[in-house]
Amino acid sequence: MLVRLMYCSRAATGVDSEELSLLLRQCRSHNGEAGITGMLCFSEGLFIQVIEGGRSGVNQLYQRILADPRHHDVVLLVYDEISQRRFAGWMMGQVNMARVNTAMLLKYSERPSLDPYSVSGRVTLALFEELLATAAVVGDR
Ligand SMILES: Cc1cc2nc3c(=O)[nH]c(=O)nc-3n(C[C@H](O)[C@H](O)[C@H](O)COP(=O)(O)O)c2cc1C
Repeated sequence: MLVRLMYCSRAATGVDSEELSLLLRQCRSHNGEAGITGMLCFSEGLFIQVIEGGRSGVNQLYQRILADPRHHDVVLLVYDEISQRRFAGWMMGQVNMARVNTAMLLKYSERPSLDPYSVSGRVTLALFEELLATAAVVGDR
């Protein structure tokens, strides 16, 4: 049985692009084995991540993520039982923030900024889907 989970968090100080590459490598090697797919966005000190997979695998991973000192203020945005994956192509894709433009942000929120703490989880998920559709995702498939 498949589920999708999305959360946002604030990165710990010192998390930079080098640390992010390390994190993504760790994600991809574990997720491949565990049958987890999804996307990670890191922008201006914020993480937004969607993870999909079997219910117990996703829940176990989320518990590890909650305890990770590389971020804090973790807020669960979406948790759904699903019949199919939307991000099946990525062991953990990375959103290319250079492709996120003002128009795309304004389509879903009041201001042209990425603020998952103030919009609904559905809105952030819709933005992620749009990024996927416009090929603004990088990383190993
Ligand atoms: C923002 C963020 C996203 C993460 N995403 C994943 C992920 O998708 N898969 C994964 O295995 N670990 C992910 N991690 C790392 C886990 O928190 C954890 O360090 C890793 O799973 C290894 O756990 P272990 O040392 O208990 O085996 C993420 C960590 C952070 C801070």
